[in-house]
Amino acid sequence: MGKIIAIANQKGGVGKTTTSVNLAASLGVLEKKVLLIDADPQANASSGLGIDVESVEKGTYQILEHSSTPQEAIIESSAPNVSIIPAHIDLVAIEIELVDQEKREYMLKTALESVKDNYDYILIDCAPSLGLLTLNALTAADSVIIPIQCEYFALEGLGKLLNTIKSVQRIHNPALDIEGLLLTMYDARLRLSNQVVEEVQKHFNDMVFDTLIQRNVKLSEAPSYGESIINYDATSKGASNYLKLAEEIIKKNSTVGL
Ligand SMILES: Nc1ncnc2c1ncn2[C@@H]1O[C@H](COP(=O)(O)OP(=O)(O)O)[C@@H](O)[C@H]1O
Ligand SMILES: [Mg+2]
Repeated sequence: MGKIIAIANQKGGVGKTTTSVNLAASLGVLEKKVLLIDADPQANASSGLGIDVESVEKGTYQILEHSSTPQEAIIESSAPNVSIIPAHIDLVAIEIELVDQEKREYMLKTALESVKDNYDYILIDCAPSLGLLTLNALTAADSVIIPIQCEYFALEGLGKLLNTIKSVQRIHNPALDIEGLLLTMYDARLRLSNQVVEEVQKHFNDMVFDTLIQRNVKLSEAPSYGESIINYDATSKGASNYLKLAEEIIKKNSTVGL
């Protein structure tokens, strides 16, 4: 049965999309079957994996408003073993459309039930907000990855995110787990970067992934070619970091229950 992992942080620019795309591609390379769901109206995960976003007619929006099944919306991405449910800017409207519907937090969870078993991992790239789209992702998910940028104000907003996760656990999804806090854009030469790592590890111990994602310009170049870092430059630091993260996640999940 597929494991659903949301990649969430209401702060923008912390590496959610970069992580969603390249973790998906890395899991794919390691022969896992992956579905990536683009739950951000900016649709950066879709374009980053080679989807022509303008031409998307069936995507996350249509699934949430029940005019499409997930099966109809799923397309192949440029990354081996990675399928995607793309987004389009029309997704911004869903927050307003769902607001007075019953069970509005459960739309994504319900939609994914019919495809969950076809994949090893389903990753959800969340929008930079704690609105209904992100609540739908957290309600559907088995666990959440929280990217944290090794920068000034790294921990700003983290308390609010953890409180939102707690309230989702209490009300909508008691089984929601924190897969891990992921330190991103790490630069070993910078004292600040090292201070953030130390502080996060001190506060959150075991919750922090062993894998650090280093700052690597190739990671910021790859999306403009519609390719994951594995396709764009398999020998880059970015590729080896995300492959290591994928291995860490596979290992962690294979020992669960032993
Ligand atoms: N490890 C990294 N090294 C260099 N640039 C990165 C790295 N991670 C992300 N970026 C760049 O930083 C910007 C924000 O990252 P993104 O993944 O889009 O964040 P979010 O989805 O949280 O808004 C993008 O331009 C992306 O290419
Ligand atoms: Mg993003």
